[in-house]
Amino acid sequence: MEYDVEKIRSEFPALERTVNGRPLIYLDNTATSQTPLRVLEAIREMYVSHKANVHRGVHTLSQEATDLQEQARRHVARYINAHSEREVIFTRGTTEAINLVASSFGSLFPAEGEIILTVMEHHANIVPWQLLQSRRPGLRLRVVEIDDRGVLDLEQYRRMFNEHTVMASFAHVSNVLGTINPVGEMIRIAREHGVPTLVDGAQATPHMRIDVQALDCDFYVFSSHKMYGSSGVGVLYGKEAHLDRMPPYQGGGEMISHVSFSGTTYADLPFKFEAGTPDFVGIAAFDKALDFLEEVGVDRIAAHEEHLLRLATDGLRSEVNGLRIFGEAPRKGAVLSFLVGNEHPYDFGMLLDGLGIAVRTGHHCAQPLMERLGIPGTVRASFAAYNTEAEVEAFVAGVARVAQMLG
Ligand SMILES: Cc1ncc(COP(=O)(O)O)c(C=O)c1O
Repeated sequence: MEYDVEKIRSEFPALERTVNGRPLIYLDNTATSQTPLRVLEAIREMYVSHKANVHRGVHTLSQEATDLQEQARRHVARYINAHSEREVIFTRGTTEAINLVASSFGSLFPAEGEIILTVMEHHANIVPWQLLQSRRPGLRLRVVEIDDRGVLDLEQYRRMFNEHTVMASFAHVSNVLGTINPVGEMIRIAREHGVPTLVDGAQATPHMRIDVQALDCDFYVFSSHKMYGSSGVGVLYGKEAHLDRMPPYQGGGEMISHVSFSGTTYADLPFKFEAGTPDFVGIAAFDKALDFLEEVGVDRIAAHEEHLLRLATDGLRSEVNGLRIFGEAPRKGAVLSFLVGNEHPYDFGMLLDGLGIAVRTGHHCAQPLMERLGIPGTVRASFAAYNTEAEVEAFVAGVARVAQMLG
């Protein structure tokens, strides 16, 4: 079946708007994707017909809201091939999911130990471990390097494991370089040493189908808003045996079995980790975002994006003098980070916005990586299911024009 990008675009009302008098060309998909009508309609439907607190009421609305939330949980579990829906915890996003693991699972670490990260991590997979470290000064962070193409040094990673290693936590796909890490192999190496793994899948799940049982990771985390869903919803997948052992992360309603001032018992999984009213509206709508990914086919989306990435890369290379691309790994997702000469990325972003082109500029929440690359930031274009060849051509022409204006 042909990839019908116009049909896909027709589901995204945001793509119809103009910016600075030009049609919007949205190339900041790594930060967040736009939202299809079916998700918007699901949100509206929740507010119009089913807005009631979940798991709390016997009344019809509450039961409907609960059913819709739990239907989404079952869908997520199927989508990532979790062993059980008890292993799917809803969080506010990838960031909260990693904080949950670092805080709760981290509290079970021995007093002394080493946590392996990589230099390409988003701050969301650095700072939670540093916070843990500030409470547990015997823990040490070890950082795996990359080569000049942005490929992870797998040998260094392998050598880093020793009897002190307590955890390995790494991105599946880099949000700056686009590098797709060999997470299957990385998990296998960790497993050989009996070390649990967390995979930050924020940039993988919009572009590839994940099978957590095949990967055999201990934790896998991602965000709905990067997968055509709404903001405020994320997923922590964790192996049930770990989640069972882990203490609650936050306390409050939903996560208890019985509360008294002499002691409290906690709810079963997954609710033990879902204190307070969840974003049941966004969770119910996430069900529809997964429908979208399944209907279009995430593999077909990835192939389309890869084609656009190649066009954009070749286009910039032939049209723009002084171009430097950051991230040239052989296995790379649809992210194009670059600089032109000594121009500041911010100026590029502002001038491209004047042409209706939305790109990201700055350090992309990956300051240690910027330090490694010896730059303050990059301009980053990133592609999604609905981007077109014409948009890529306009982007290349736009960058060439801005480079000329600045140069
Ligand atoms: C690799 C990676 N990890 C974590 C995050 C944080 O995601 P969120 O802000 O949805 O929690 C991002 C967001 O850009 C990311 O790209």
